This record gives sequence, C-alpha cells and structure tokens, in this order.
Amino acid sequence: MHEEKILVLDFGSQYTQLIARRVRESSVYSEIFPFNAPIEKIRDFNPKGIILSGGPSSVYDPGAPIPDLKIFNLGVPILGICYGMQLMAHCLGGEVARAQKCEYGRAELFVDDDSDLLWGVSKKTVVWMSHGDRIEKFPQGFHPIAHTDNSPIAAVASKEKRFYALQFHPEVAHTPMGTSILKNFLFKICDCKPTWTMRSFIDTAKNEIKEKVKDKGVVCGISGGVDSAVTAVLVHEAIGKALTCIFVDNGVLREGEAKKVEDTLRKNFHMNIICVNASERFLKRLKGVKDPERKRKIIGNEFIRVFEEEAMKLKNVGFLAQGTLYPDVIESVSFKGPSATIKSHHNVGGLLKKMKLKLIEPLRELFKDEVRVLGRDLGMPDEIINRHPFPGPGLAIRCLGEVTEKRLQILREADAIVLEEIKKAGLYRTIWQAFAVILPVKSVGVMGDERTYDNVIAVRAVTSVDGMTADWAQIPYEVLGKISNRIINEVRGVNRVVYDISSKPPSTIEWE
Ligand code: XMP
Repeated sequence: MHEEKILVLDFGSQYTQLIARRVRESSVYSEIFPFNAPIEKIRDFNPKGIILSGGPSSVYDPGAPIPDLKIFNLGVPILGICYGMQLMAHCLGGEVARAQKCEYGRAELFVDDDSDLLWGVSKKTVVWMSHGDRIEKFPQGFHPIAHTDNSPIAAVASKEKRFYALQFHPEVAHTPMGTSILKNFLFKICDCKPTWTMRSFIDTAKNEIKEKVKDKGVVCGISGGVDSAVTAVLVHEAIGKALTCIFVDNGVLREGEAKKVEDTLRKNFHMNIICVNASERFLKRLKGVKDPERKRKIIGNEFIRVFEEEAMKLKNVGFLAQGTLYPDVIESVSFKGPSATIKSHHNVGGLLKKMKLKLIEPLRELFKDEVRVLGRDLGMPDEIINRHPFPGPGLAIRCLGEVTEKRLQILREADAIVLEEIKKAGLYRTIWQAFAVILPVKSVGVMGDERTYDNVIAVRAVTSVDGMTADWAQIPYEVLGKISNRIINEVRGVNRVVYDISSKPPSTIEWE
C-alpha cells in the first residue's frame, strides 16, 4: 500500500521506535521488524533502505542478535546505528573491540566528509553516544566520514555499496543534527520521496476498509479513549451507516463522560451509536469487592458480556473494528508498551468466533501521536484527541476499597474539580494524567464548630512520555491550593486532600 518504505531492524535499543517515528516524521513510511526477520519477509516488504537499530548487546556476546546476512546482498542502502554499526563491521569482515573508555552521553563530532550522509552538518557538532564497543578496523571499501576524540571512526561510509554506519544516535533529540542526517539517508542515499502524509494514509485506509468490508456491517466498541473514537470515525468515513458503534457505560466512568462521547459521535459525526447503560450490572458484580485485580477481571468480563449481547442483536455484521496501535502489534525486541496490558480487557476473541467476525484494525500501523494527528485531520475535537489516558477499569481502581455508588459520586465530583483546575491553569497538555483517588480511610476534621470524620481524597498528577515511567508533576502551590480548597468546600463528604508525590517506579501511576 505504501510505495516507498524504510525497514528498521530492531536489535533491542530503547530508541528503536524513535527511529521509525523520525522516518515517518520525514514523510517516509517505515516499519520495525525484529532483528531475526526471515529474508523472504524482508524481500516482500520491499524496503528502499534498511536501518539497523542500536541494542544493548556486544557483537561478541554469546547469543548476540545477528540478522540474516542476506540483507547485505539485497542491493538496498543500509544505515547501522551504534550496535548496528558494530554489527556491520563484524558481519562484513571488520574488527570490533571493547573500548577502553566507554562513551555515554554528549560527545563532540568532527565531520571529515560531508558529501552525502553528513551533508549540511557543520564541521563540529554535538552527538549522543551510548556504547561500550568501538570499531578497530572497518572492512575494505569503507572510509571514515567523522570522528570524535575517543572514536577515530564515529561514522563510516561505503559509497559503492551504499552502506553507512554511525557510532552515535541520530534519532534522539540530544543529537541536534540527527534529523538532517536521517533525512540525508532517506532522500540522498535511498532516493525516497517525502510523500507519506496522514492525508494519504486516510485515503488508502478508507479504500482498504471499503474493499474489505464490501456489503457487510461493522461493529465497533467505544471506550471513550482516543484510539477507539478515531477508529470509529475513520471506519465511518469509509462506510458510513454500515458501521454501528456500541458504547458501554460501565458505571465507573468520569463525570459527564458517557454523554460527551455520545454527543460527539452522534451529533458531530452522525454515527449509528448504541449506548448501553449497564452501570447497575457492573456495580452489582463489584459489590463487596476490594481486591484490585478482581475488580479488573470483573469489569473486563462484564464489558465483553454486555458488548456481545448488543452485537448479537445486529444483523449482517461481518467485522469488528478495533483501535489496536502499532506498539501493540510489533514484535519489538526492546519494547512492549503499556498498551499491551492496557488492551487485555478488550479480549474479544470469543465474540469473533461466536459471530464469525473478522477483525479490522485500521490504526495498527500508527503510533499514538500519529493517531492524534489522524483524529485532527478527520475533524475530531481537541477535547477527545488530547484526553489523558483513562484505564479500562475506570474509577473502580481509583475508589480504593469497596466501590459503591456513593463513594463513586464523591470521587467523580472531586475528579472533575482536579481536571477543571488543571485545565484552567494551562497544565493539561503538559501532564500525562491527572486525577483524584478516594482512599479507604476516614480522617478527623473541623468544619465550622463541628468535628467531622470524613473521606480523604488523594490528588495524583504525573508527567511521562509513555506511561512506563513517570514522575509526579510539580504543579504550582496555588493550583494545588485551589484544588484542595474547592474539593473540601464543594464536595460533601470530604474533609482532607493530599497530593501524591511518588514517582514510577517504585510506585505506579494508578493506586490500585
Ligand atoms: P500504572 O498504574 O501501571 O499505569 O503505572 C500505567 C498506565 O496504564 C493505565 N492502566 C490501565 N489501563 N486497564 C487499562 O486499560 C488497566 O487495568 C490499567 N491499569 C493501569 C494507567 O492509567 C496508566 O496510564
């Protein structure tokens, strides 16, 4: 479907995904394959160029990841980064050795040849290193194109073969000229054209959906999150009313959430949407349950049950649309994003069998930030596109201890205040997630002349790039003060507010 593609082979670097993103940001489509992808699969993919990622191994380690060596005979340009560079030297007859002095972090690069890969890079520039090995000797036909004080060969080229290698990481923000270097590889060396845009993605995806679905109906579960909403809008653009969305209100959603989602999809996009208020069912099953994992299981199972019941009522349905993203599907050596576990409650395998449905996953090639761009291009409101992540088990895992309607109501009101004040202070976009938690303890307070014995609300706000690690957000005291003040004054049943100042690890973002 995409004409010009770059393949990134993953050797386990934490930056592998970043390489693929940088390429796509340069308007060239790219995908990640595990390092040991069979050569037939690589040939079928038909890349215009290959990038070998970095990785934590040393090429001399027993079991070090080695790709199928036939990649070097495909006749396409190859760029090795860090471990990818050492691998190239090792596989093509050079010599790699442990460096006496490891180079980690910032280093100064001196450019010796700026004719192709390093075209336009200043003679002296800053790069980001992260490696322990160094190249002693490169195979014949290669010549150094840059050095640092510690590495006489920090970048090499074989112009004849169109093989290039870098000891440093061009994909990270700490290498200021990194994007230019990657672009030189794409446009000067691989001869790619910058034609991959979200608009072209939308057109291709719509055609593919239409062709696949034909005259069958499609059903899509809506969770209120970005991924399912964007999936629904995209499929709807392709096939209109042949799509039916099912939104299950599980009773543990945030204040006004069910209505907002319904309004947007029904009123702005004129979709067929079935809203099921299943709150009672869920709360009945959650009665008396305090264990976090049991809460998760109950909500996950009940969701599937309700969804199935509704989907079974539909006629002529042939497909189930899901908002699976790229990090969920790549067999990455290095990275399994939080979404891998996040999606587990959407386990719809049973439904597929029972109703003989096939899956369509139109976002399976995209990263989260690309989904946001796609949503914007499809005309979706900012409010939905830039929402903080919200866990499937919802407020149930923020209602520590037993989940009751009364406690949920207190939590909802407090949570709405947290979000409102964070938005008012202009902090919403810089914060990964902000929310309230109701604790399973009561504390003493004094209101007016009366002693109170009431609930405690904890406020949690974290910064993060992927949810895997996080730090507590340094929200200004005035904003925290306002949040606390408003919660205690406006939410009946709360007499104390605390701010959570723990990072992940060792804490988690959620309290349960
Ligand atoms: P933790 O609490 O593990 O959360 O640091 C990391 C990210 O995952 C979300 N999360 C969940 N999402 N079902 C979900 O769909 C879950 O059971 C679940 N538990 C945590 C959490 O909100 C954060 O974004």
